[in-house]
Amino acid sequence: MPNQEYWEQHYQEGTTRWDIGKAAPPFVSLLQSPAPSPGLVAVLGCGRGYDAVLFAQFGFEVIGFDFADSAITEATALAKSVDSSVKFLQRDIFDLPAEFVSYFDYVVEHTCFCAIDPGMRERYVQVVKSILKPQGELIGLFFTHNRPGGPPFGATPQEIKEYFQQDFEIRSLEPATNSVSERQGEEHLGQFRVMK
Ligand SMILES: C[S@@+](CC[C@H](N)C(=O)[O-])C[C@H]1O[C@@H](n2cnc3c(N)ncnc32)[C@H](O)[C@@H]1O
Repeated sequence: MPNQEYWEQHYQEGTTRWDIGKAAPPFVSLLQSPAPSPGLVAVLGCGRGYDAVLFAQFGFEVIGFDFADSAITEATALAKSVDSSVKFLQRDIFDLPAEFVSYFDYVVEHTCFCAIDPGMRERYVQVVKSILKPQGELIGLFFTHNRPGGPPFGATPQEIKEYFQQDFEIRSLEPATNSVSERQGEEHLGQFRVMK
């Protein structure tokens, strides 16, 4: 089970192979198409904060969450360097419902679902549901590779739907068309509306 120390150690050692060094291109495209209406966004497992800063640049009010202190420190420095209003908080995402119930218009997810132990996925779905306002949306860029082991733990689009469809209307879940080269053909972009 990858715990806080596991992730923190990777940040401290600079062995962050998942980090693409910029906001995910499929999020950029999504925001440049008729963008979702502005609102309050939680970015779960935000890492160094590129996606959170991107959403803030498009007019969203954003809080990025990660439990690795070094990720939060670096994300906060990034926000400062570009004069962004985004906030970053060091939290375990599984603790968020106690603090942020029905609080966010959007949850943004990028390689967080694949980072948690698969045995925690049902709890993860309940976290997302709990912190969204009624009608709120999950915007997720899921790593849909099929290699064994993890993290990153793979999932098929069908498995992702099965986890979420009880509590979310699956508005779309499509192969991403402009992934970075190392993830070509292995990412799906989803927009799921919570039902509560
Ligand atoms: C694969 S990395 C992705 C980071 C970032 N989204 C990106 O794409 O660069 C997964 C991130 O989730 C964080 N994470 C994993 N489990 C978490 C948890 N239970 N609570 C908060 N953060 C968590 C890790 O610290 C790590 O920064």
